[in-house]
Amino acid sequence: MLPEALICLLNVALAFAQTQQALPLNALASFTPSNTPKPPVLSLPTSSNLSVTVALCSSGNNPRFFVTNSSDAIPGSSGGKSVFEITLKDGYGNWTGPFRDGGVLAIEDVGQSSFELGVSEQGPIHEILPNLPLLGDTTSNQALLFSPAFAISQNDKPTYPNYTLPPANASLPEPPSDIPNFTLFVSPTSSLTPLPQSGCMLSSQNSTGTVVNQSLWLKDKQGWRTQWLLEALTPATNYTAYVVKDRTKVSGPINFVTKSATFACPLVFGLPYCPNVAYTVPLPPPTGAGSNTYTAANIPAEITTPLLSYLTNFTTSLTSFACGRDWYSPLVGCDDCQREYRRWLCSITFTRCGEPSPANPDSFTRSLPAPTATGLSALQPKDKNNPTAPQKVFSALIPQASDISKARSPNLPAMGSQYSMLLPCIEICTAVDRACPSLVGFTCPTVQFNAAASYGVGYTDSADGDEGQGVTGGPQDRWGNIWCNG
Ligand SMILES: *[C@@H]1O[C@H](CO)[C@@H](O)[C@H](O)[C@H]1NC(C)=O
Ligand SMILES: *[C@@H]1O[C@H](CO)[C@@H](O)[C@H](O)[C@H]1NC(C)=O
Ligand SMILES: *[C@@H]1O[C@H](CO)[C@@H](O)[C@H](O)[C@H]1NC(C)=O
Ligand SMILES: *[C@@H]1O[C@H](CO)[C@@H](O)[C@H](O)[C@H]1NC(C)=O
Ligand SMILES: *[C@@H]1O[C@H](CO)[C@@H](O)[C@H](O)[C@H]1NC(C)=O
Ligand SMILES: *[C@@H]1O[C@H](CO)[C@@H](O)[C@H](O)[C@H]1NC(C)=O
Ligand SMILES: *[C@@H]1O[C@H](CO)[C@@H](O)[C@H](O)[C@H]1NC(C)=O
Ligand SMILES: *[C@@H]1O[C@H](CO)[C@@H](O)[C@H](O)[C@H]1NC(C)=O
Ligand SMILES: *[C@@H]1O[C@H](CO)[C@@H](O)[C@H](O)[C@H]1NC(C)=O
Ligand SMILES: *[C@@H]1O[C@H](CO)[C@@H](O)[C@H](O)[C@H]1NC(C)=O
Repeated sequence: MLPEALICLLNVALAFAQTQQALPLNALASFTPSNTPKPPVLSLPTSSNLSVTVALCSSGNNPRFFVTNSSDAIPGSSGGKSVFEITLKDGYGNWTGPFRDGGVLAIEDVGQSSFELGVSEQGPIHEILPNLPLLGDTTSNQALLFSPAFAISQNDKPTYPNYTLPPANASLPEPPSDIPNFTLFVSPTSSLTPLPQSGCMLSSQNSTGTVVNQSLWLKDKQGWRTQWLLEALTPATNYTAYVVKDRTKVSGPINFVTKSATFACPLVFGLPYCPNVAYTVPLPPPTGAGSNTYTAANIPAEITTPLLSYLTNFTTSLTSFACGRDWYSPLVGCDDCQREYRRWLCSITFTRCGEPSPANPDSFTRSLPAPTATGLSALQPKDKNNPTAPQKVFSALIPQASDISKARSPNLPAMGSQYSMLLPCIEICTAVDRACPSLVGFTCPTVQFNAAASYGVGYTDSADGDEGQGVTGGPQDRWGNIWCNG
């Protein structure tokens, strides 16, 4: 027989446990001031490994979230055994651990907050994704942006005896069926208030610009991405972009900068035979109703016909090698060689335009280097008077007169105005060199013989060719600087 006082106490505890709203397992729960329990205490399910995630959907309050995996106490800032605070950073927080006897989540200073709670045995529901969105390029008022890659292309490697390479005029393979729901959020960097950068917060804000085309694109080996063409942006403005996946997972931020108002090169993208071309090219303004970009539908045949002819002839001579039988390398095959050659040919045919980065306005080579010039570098020469000053990075930009220069692709029709050419990164060339059998006779210029007159050298790989040892580690960075066409 239990003493009466203890029975009363047990009843209180039971009644208390029953009044707690339970958070559902493997689901998202959204709370606003009107449906937040009072007091703000919720029970957690029993599990050997639970990820509890928090996303703030409002600003103004700074609520604190506490969990315990012992079910007999309300966790809070007073601490205690098995009490853990879910600390928030940019409006996002997580805690993962065992809840063998269930648990309790309690909120302090909840005020008028809106928030989401995710409770899952299958990994965190809210997440900051490790992969960033990708900038294609900008004009004065447009931007071409990509989500992080979400699915590798399931193209089977060709095998002997039926070793068939994609035709020169290739089309994109079938896109995957399981496509994440990506939304793009863009804001001028200067007017970005320090809000929680959670999926629910970003999804509730007005994004700048107008998305005029959203499609799926297989830009490179990394896989399928969602592609956005954004218009109605302001010239010479620094923007911040996030991509939200399924409303709960956030990729970014990245910065990008629109070109100055006089920038005249149009965007070229959506060419299935040149999937990596997603940038501005020195071409006359596109003609045709409502189009201010070039895609497969309006790209001049005087560019594509010779390009596809070169690619067809290259593929023909490549398949005369023993593709798929006597491997010229255990690591790469004819398909890799054709893919890298295609990427190189497209980058050479479609000259890229550029502009000095506002963050680094003097950083470009002002005149075309002489073919015999040596010692060109991605880095500004050291200041003799101030040898410890950090060296600026030069973009691989070369100003061009409006007439066709000999450095420019001979098949492009004249644009009729001045522009700056952004050289292809040398890594585009060395990738062909590495992937192709030496018998095809493809060679890249070396630094000793002035590779830097026609390629951006020293950005991803060092000027001596050491992989990944260059000054920027890539052709562009997440802050909106573009160093070479890669
Ligand atoms: C969980 O939060 C910690 C910081 O509290 C963070 O370092 C970690 O990346 C987060 N984990 C995930 C999966 O988001
Ligand atoms: C509570 O979490 C701590 C830390 O992860 C763990 O050591 C402990 O075993 C957990 N207790 C229960 C009852 O799950
Ligand atoms: C718990 O789940 C997380 C996320 O799914 C996982 O990373 C972690 O390895 C798991 N821990 C244990 C002990 O199973
Ligand atoms: C060879 O492969 C191609 C593409 O994979 C396919 O279309 C064709 O039918 C195959 N031919 C034979 C004879 O198997
Ligand atoms: C490439 O193929 C498409 C159909 O897949 C066709 O419409 C187009 O005319 C071809 N382009 C060239 C330049 O042959
Ligand atoms: C994707 O998310 C947006 C915004 O949250 C929503 O409006 C849309 O209906 C969703 N689409 C799909 C296919 O789930
Ligand atoms: C978004 O734009 C609409 C219409 O311009 C406006 O009514 C609304 O208040 C804006 N929302 C936010 C969060 O700025
Ligand atoms: C959108 O862009 C794709 C190329 O990525 C193109 O095939 C499609 O026709 C475009 N859609 C519109 C409506 O312009
Ligand atoms: C491709 O080969 C054909 C036939 O040999 C030739 O007529 C054509 O000029 C070649 N194309 C290019 C771009 O060299
Ligand atoms: C854009 O703005 C961000 C934040 O102020 C800055 O870090 C970045 O360098 C800027 N990008 C460029 C290209 O100026």
